[in-house]
Amino acid sequence: MRTQVGIVGAGPSGLLLSHLLHLRGIESVVVEIRSRQYCETRIRAGVLEQGTADLLSASGVGARMAREGLVHHGIVLRFGGRDHRIDLSGLTGGRTITVYGQHEVVKDLIAARLSAGGGIFFDVQDVEVLDVDTPAPRIRFDRGGVAQDLRCDFIAGCDGFHGVCRPTVPAGVLTAYEHTFPLAWLGILAQVPPASDELIYSSHERGFALLSMRSPELSRLYLQCAPDEDINGWSDERIWDELRRRFERDDAWTLRDGPVVQKGITAMRSFVVAPMQYERLFLVGDAAHIVPPTGAKGLNLAAADVAVLARALETFYTTGRTDLLARYSDVCLRRVWKVQRFSWWMTSMLHRSSDGEFFDRLHRAELDYITGSRAASTALAENYVGLPFDDD
Ligand code: FAD
Ligand code: DHB
Repeated sequence: MRTQVGIVGAGPSGLLLSHLLHLRGIESVVVEIRSRQYCETRIRAGVLEQGTADLLSASGVGARMAREGLVHHGIVLRFGGRDHRIDLSGLTGGRTITVYGQHEVVKDLIAARLSAGGGIFFDVQDVEVLDVDTPAPRIRFDRGGVAQDLRCDFIAGCDGFHGVCRPTVPAGVLTAYEHTFPLAWLGILAQVPPASDELIYSSHERGFALLSMRSPELSRLYLQCAPDEDINGWSDERIWDELRRRFERDDAWTLRDGPVVQKGITAMRSFVVAPMQYERLFLVGDAAHIVPPTGAKGLNLAAADVAVLARALETFYTTGRTDLLARYSDVCLRRVWKVQRFSWWMTSMLHRSSDGEFFDRLHRAELDYITGSRAASTALAENYVGLPFDDD
């Protein structure tokens, strides 16, 4: 088997890359170890930056997002028993965010690729990336018990943090930078209308809590917890009770509960490898970097990498020029580090820290400053709606 770009992983990065390449007349094949159903139901991120939503719309996969996605113009920071609204649109010249689940984006992209006759092999096994330092790299995998060899010009490693692509790069080429937070999030999806039209980030002395949503009938809520928290110790009743306390407000604001349809624990990690390329292998999205979830940047950062790589590959295939491919890592990393900074800052400011009361007071002063100063609110807003894409 042969294609132009071999893509490992059918998450948002791999699927969006395959879709954008198709629109530019470049062939690709995606190989994925999980089933289609698993990929389409995996609950993860939910907030799309303006640039991500624009990219999906402009590339023809935004129709369902336009119908079902929830466009938001602001977010709420709740602390000290009061709400402080950040007017995202007012502070950024009208920019917005769209609340639309990552698994819905994945469904839309899979449908678009398959209806265009694109190759996605689900349920493959034993994926190996070979010969990336030669002009003829290969992806070897097992499909239905039959060994397959996919020859390509380039390989995109879109296989997430635990994938096989990054570890194939020889020792000494990549430098990893990381920070692990002594925190995690317990997240639930619940069948109850969201208690607020806008997302609420609540900084409370019992710990951080976040109210988000997936639709007018489905709420998505998170609670700060310990990284080694045992989910079995959290009955639905205990979760709702803790959420109610952390969302308390001075007035009679209430959080209505409902059936919990999914729950899980997400670790908090910051991770970057540099460079994001080795010879003919390009690392994209979570394969190259992880941000803590506060601020909802993981998926958006992946989409920004894809936009840069798709353009560089288009330039290569239409003109033979390799300069944009050579700059891929530098261009992406400039944005990656700005987004790492924002996610780290939001995480530190909003969570109850284990560093002691001094830091909790500093974070409260920071919240007072952010909500009291137009300049500081603007800095939060412009990062939250997303820095410009593709800013080389
Ligand atoms: P992934 O979505 O991880 O996709 C990688 C794909 O590669 C997967 O389909 C995987 O099955 C496949 N794969 C792995 N190994 C192989 C292999 N050997 N061969 C072939 N395929 C392989 N971000 C937010 O902004 N907000 C959130 O609330 C949020 N919640 C999250 C919760 C969890 C549990 C996790 C893990 C992440 C969360 N994120 C969140 C981050 C966000 O979901 C990611 O940044 C985003 O999924 C990155 O997309 P990706 O395509 O790069 O990687
Ligand atoms: C969601 C996740 C986030 O990390 C965040 O900051 C906002 C919303 C969500 O899953 O809806």
